[in-house]
Amino acid sequence: MTSRIIGTGSYVPAQVVTNEDLAKIVDTSDEWIAGRTGIRQRRVVREEGTSHMAAEAARKALENAGIDEKELDLILMGTTSPDHCFPSGACEVQEAIGAVNACGFDVSAACSGFLFALSTMQAFIQAGIYRTGLVIGADCISKLVDWKDRSTCVLFGDGAGAAVVRAEDTGVIHTVMKSDGAKWNVLSCVSRTGGNFINGITTEPGFITMDGQEVFKFAVKTVPACIHQVLEESGVSIDEVKYFVLHQANYRIVESVAKRLKQPMDKFPMNMEFYGNTSAATVPILLDEMNRAGKLNKGDKIVMSGFGAGLTWGATLLEW
Ligand code: ACO
Repeated sequence: MTSRIIGTGSYVPAQVVTNEDLAKIVDTSDEWIAGRTGIRQRRVVREEGTSHMAAEAARKALENAGIDEKELDLILMGTTSPDHCFPSGACEVQEAIGAVNACGFDVSAACSGFLFALSTMQAFIQAGIYRTGLVIGADCISKLVDWKDRSTCVLFGDGAGAAVVRAEDTGVIHTVMKSDGAKWNVLSCVSRTGGNFINGITTEPGFITMDGQEVFKFAVKTVPACIHQVLEESGVSIDEVKYFVLHQANYRIVESVAKRLKQPMDKFPMNMEFYGNTSAATVPILLDEMNRAGKLNKGDKIVMSGFGAGLTWGATLLEW
């Protein structure tokens, strides 16, 4: 028994922020941002938080799957920007959508969050513990970036994507998940915590800091390697794969991965031009767009791959 995706949904805030808009608040330009990343605009929240976006994506995924929320056994949400330290975003989504029979918790793996959550769901379903699940990738990175730091604030956007999965004979074939904690500070968002009345330290929020070139090198090396691994361990040839749905951080990373895999660019759909890097949400938002555009047919083999802070990375091979 494996997990089959039976419905997808996504949500992005209405507020569009273009590269020209950002050029009014930091020293940057559309030419610099689009040329180095492929991003031309992103969506940024006004009122709504991470759980609201996640619940909206979840409702659409349930509708697309044609199932009732009460059928859900487990809700897993990949996020690193939940609205609260606790409770989990997954529990907030459970309440918002009325999934009264489910259990929910969050998975923290940054931009790999959706893939790690899907893989965790797969383990529960394969073990026969649960039958029907909701996997979400949702992030509101706009509240974690320093809007005065041009090297990071231009890269991200807010959004959420979701997939309903059910125990069936075909679906997820295999997953590779990896992390390298020694490189945690290549990409991090560290709050000044640990304050209490004895040490007199004041807790302060932190912003995202990133060594962009290290992230670039890490991504173009590890993503092709884990895609090769997931295919080899499944006995599936790379030419059988119809689409590679990669984390949408930067078009140059996607191009480099395609080149290293010796695969044509039309197998690598991209949408970072419109949404920027929405962290854990990029893969499920792109998957939902492809699903709704009728690009995915039963039996298609698809590889999804994510990479991000941790450092974390991974790849999932599935049959649609
Ligand atoms: N606008 C204009 N100039 C800028 C901007 C900006 N927004 N940001 C940085 N610069 C300047 C720098 O100050 C520097 O100027 P200097 O030469 O005078 O010192 C110059 O541009 C080059 O800076 P680099 O950081 O070397 O630029 P680089 O070519 O490496 O591009 C980028 C930066 C786009 C971040 C690149 O390293 C990259 O794509 N890295 C991958 C990281 C990534 O995509 N992260 C997303 C989040 S992580 C994730 O999703 C896993």
